Amino acid sequence: MKLFALFGNPIEHSKSHIIHKLFAKQIGIEQKYIKIKVSTNSFSTSIINFFKNGGLGANITVPFKREAYQICDLLTNRAKFSGVVNTMKILNDHKILGDNTDGIGLLQDLQNLKYITSKSNILLLGAGGAAQGIIYPLIKFGCKITIVNRTYQNAKNIIQHFKKNKNINCLKIENLSKYPYNKTYYDIIINATSSSMKGDIINIPISVINSNIFCYDLFYNNNNTPFLKWCISQGVKNISDGIGMLIEQAAYSFYLWHDIMPDTKKVLMNIKKIN
Ligand code: ATR
Repeated sequence: MKLFALFGNPIEHSKSHIIHKLFAKQIGIEQKYIKIKVSTNSFSTSIINFFKNGGLGANITVPFKREAYQICDLLTNRAKFSGVVNTMKILNDHKILGDNTDGIGLLQDLQNLKYITSKSNILLLGAGGAAQGIIYPLIKFGCKITIVNRTYQNAKNIIQHFKKNKNINCLKIENLSKYPYNKTYYDIIINATSSSMKGDIINIPISVINSNIFCYDLFYNNNNTPFLKWCISQGVKNISDGIGMLIEQAAYSFYLWHDIMPDTKKVLMNIKKIN
């Protein structure tokens, strides 16, 4: 049986195995998709052993996406430009190919939700691997991104990675509420911090909220995330968690492994029913 896996820590909350099972059933492919929780310093050994022992492909989640990028022998353009890898595939010559389907998955979900245009001005919260992984497709699409992060230096490091692309900049959190930045109109706020995973609320000024803003959390759970609850309490009407992105990015991974794109809308309906 074809073997695929998700590597990360924590992974208990992940629904990836359910999504890939639904894709495989829809397309008629027999495969096994398992979750592998690895400790911080054993990711490289674990993934290499997985491929040696017959694994065909893997998804990589927090906190290993940057390390995964280092391990790959070959990279797709999406992975190369983002600097992080969330999908791996073993090739016929035993080389490991790395891809990044997070950004394209997010863009697809935002398009499905009809909240993004090529002119959208996005406030991106966070500067870890999750934030870095979604930037490239969004700026390529035409959007402008401002990164704000608890640790300003980490946001600056991401800007360096994108070689000071004119569509991306960063600000200190405290400057968001100061002139002239308090007059900036954001269309979308994306929470890419791990705060929702920990149950924390991020500290951003309410001045960034306007009546038309759309707020998105990359994280998902059965209720609204702490970030989305905060947004609602500030009067935001249009919100979404990251379940749609999870399904879309999984579909692009599935495509890399099997060369066929599953129907994500049917799977999204199924997953929502299971919740
Ligand atoms: P990932 O690879 O999933 O992005 P990460 O590299 O640990 O994980 O990054 C987590 C991100 O969430 C970082 O931007 C982190 O901010 P710092 O750079 O200051 O560490 C952010 N983060 C985590 N907990 C947070 C909290 N309680 N409030 C605000 N930001 C938080």
